[in-house]
Amino acid sequence: MLKIPTGIFGLDELISGGFVKNTVNAVLGTVGCGKTIFSLQYLLQGIEDNQEAVYISFDLEVKDFLRIARSMGWKLEEKISDGLLKVGRFQVEDSFIDSELVKFITGKDMRIVIDSFTPLVASLETSRARNEVNWLYKTLRESGTALITVEEPFFGTAGKEVDVPLILADCVIQLKNVGYGEAYSRTLRVIKHRMSPHLNSVFPYSILEGVGLVVEEKRCEGFEVDLSDLPLSESTKEKLYRYCKDGILKPEEIQKIRRRLI
Ligand SMILES: Nc1ncnc2c1ncn2[C@@H]1O[C@H](COP(=O)(O)OP(=O)(O)O)[C@@H](O)[C@H]1O
Ligand SMILES: [Mg+2]
Repeated sequence: MLKIPTGIFGLDELISGGFVKNTVNAVLGTVGCGKTIFSLQYLLQGIEDNQEAVYISFDLEVKDFLRIARSMGWKLEEKISDGLLKVGRFQVEDSFIDSELVKFITGKDMRIVIDSFTPLVASLETSRARNEVNWLYKTLRESGTALITVEEPFFGTAGKEVDVPLILADCVIQLKNVGYGEAYSRTLRVIKHRMSPHLNSVFPYSILEGVGLVVEEKRCEGFEVDLSDLPLSESTKEKLYRYCKDGILKPEEIQKIRRRLI
């Protein structure tokens, strides 16, 4: 089965090599858990793999999207002007069929992000939500491999805008910000992965400037590295040195992180 590397350090190992090609994959989490940064990493990986990368938003202006990327140290302006990344901001509509959104995502072998999917489904009539989302997912799968983000409410129970996208998705990854401090403050869990085995545990992850999300699992032998040339804060470098020493990041991933920053 063809796999698409997610671009999230340490995640592919948890889902047998990555997302399955031509699927819709959901990232679920409350505000601030890293869904947008996850999306950025996923797109960067696609651009580096020569896939057409598309970012679609309903609430984020393009300039806000670029600002988040810049705060991580990634220069996406160049990718947009080079035609490697398309960014679109849309208004919600009451049907997807014939919508501007669908015209924007027609292609083959694309990497598509919809961040977030929640307002889109919230605007649909309840009786039609499931059919509409099913239809859109089918279109997304034909165009490539998609990532959608879903906002998990802090309080109360979720409605159709959370349930429907998750029920119909091929893979669901839940990010949590437990807030216990350091080690288990942030956790990642794969809730489902159709057509592919996955590990069913909870894994700690962190978000680092210039790096993005890192699942904190040992994946290789530890090694020493020189990061003095990188435009990162001392505390971030300290964390990266430890991740290398503990085998959480691989030498080739440090090269990738460096290429994105310099
Ligand atoms: N430059 C940065 N360095 C480290 N952590 C960051 C940086 N920028 C954002 N974060 C972390 O990422 C979180 C926001 O991630 P984001 O992807 O915008 O969340 P979401 O989209 O799920 O609301 C912030 O709460 C912060 O903890
Ligand atoms: Mg976000």
